[in-house]
Amino acid sequence: MPINEWTEALAADELPDNDIVGIKLGATKVCLARVGGDIYAINDICSHFYTRLSSGELYEDELAVQCPLHDSKFSLLDGKPHSEPAEKPVETYAVKVEEGTIYVGPRV
Ligand code: FES
Repeated sequence: MPINEWTEALAADELPDNDIVGIKLGATKVCLARVGGDIYAINDICSHFYTRLSSGELYEDELAVQCPLHDSKFSLLDGKPHSEPAEKPVETYAVKVEEGTIYVGPRV
């Protein structure tokens, strides 16, 4: 589900480096990831079946999150699956940090 405006997501210190956190913004479940200080946001629901990607594993070197159910990895950059069985990408979102708070917004 799209996010149409910048939305307060999480205190930045609640997302440690090299970690992922699942949050809910309205009706949209979002997987936040921090790698090397950079923060990424993708839709948290796997495009293959209904599973939360934030319950999976972060691969920092690939900038990807692995689905816990059937192991497809999704790019944090563009949401595309790196491996089967998933074939469709997940949505990605813009991220900004202001005064210690992470905001998630529409991809431009
Ligand atoms: S549910 Fe994610 S790869 Fe199947």
